[in-house]
Amino acid sequence: MNRPTAKNALCDRLMSQLASLLDDLEADPEVKVIVITGQRGVFAAGADVKEMLPRRFPAVLHEEFLKDWSRLSRCQKPTLAAVSGYALGGGCELAMMCDVIYADEAAIFGQPELLLGTMPGAGGTQRLCRAVGKAVTMEMCLTGRKLTATEALQAGLISRVFPAESLLEEALKTAEKIAQLSSTAVILCKRAVNAAHEMSLSVGLQYERDLFYSTFATEDRKTGMDAFVHKKKPTFSGK
Ligand code: HXC
Repeated sequence: MNRPTAKNALCDRLMSQLASLLDDLEADPEVKVIVITGQRGVFAAGADVKEMLPRRFPAVLHEEFLKDWSRLSRCQKPTLAAVSGYALGGGCELAMMCDVIYADEAAIFGQPELLLGTMPGAGGTQRLCRAVGKAVTMEMCLTGRKLTATEALQAGLISRVFPAESLLEEALKTAEKIAQLSSTAVILCKRAVNAAHEMSLSVGLQYERDLFYSTFATEDRKTGMDAFVHKKKPTFSGK
């Protein structure tokens, strides 16, 4: 995201460009992993407040104001957010749509929408609550209290914290690692993890088992196990 003069405020144009870029990346077989980031000091300061100011309820409903916002959460390929600095409101929600969140030491996560007389609208009450639990979510949403990178790590919102200068490098290193794996197994595994938030334990376990069995229909499963047994490095084809 590159709107530094507006702290990467997520205006309609940015969100529709992001959605169409994600369409292209998903369709490109050379792309295995998607990393989303902003600049040093700002991931995104939320939806564009200046653009939202004149909007009224019937218009946001009929125009489906947030139609481009869920594209990221529908990515089949793995997604990683590299968050430097502010991830506020819609910025925090965008990061939470990603599969993995890395942050730098100056990262700040918050859902300050109530301070603007509105409320989170793209996962700030739902994904946040599933990630960090009700108490922290309520406090963040109801008071606008922001989490530092360390707090976000402790709360389970993000998986790792790095110095600012190495954040993107580390994110790309992880992306590279995932890109070496079987892209088929990666997609199935991502589906199974996401299903944990949607299904009961017994149904989720059955779903996981069925997906696991289905990997036995792939060449990659044989390649991976064969390489282990023969002490070689596997090269996966996605088949
Ligand atoms: C529009 C924004 C913006 C935003 C910053 N800017 N955030 N414009 N929408 N969300 C603009 C400022 O107006 C300013 O423009 C320029 O970016 C620089 O910002 P400053 O405030 O001067 O910078 P700084 O003092 O460093 O403060 C940074 C900040 C602050 C802490 C990130 O800008 C801030 O609090 N921003 C708003 C955060 C927020 O409330 N987010 C939630 C939005 S609601 P000018 O023209 O003055 O230079 C939301 C709803 C999501 O996200 C639900 C549906 C998806």
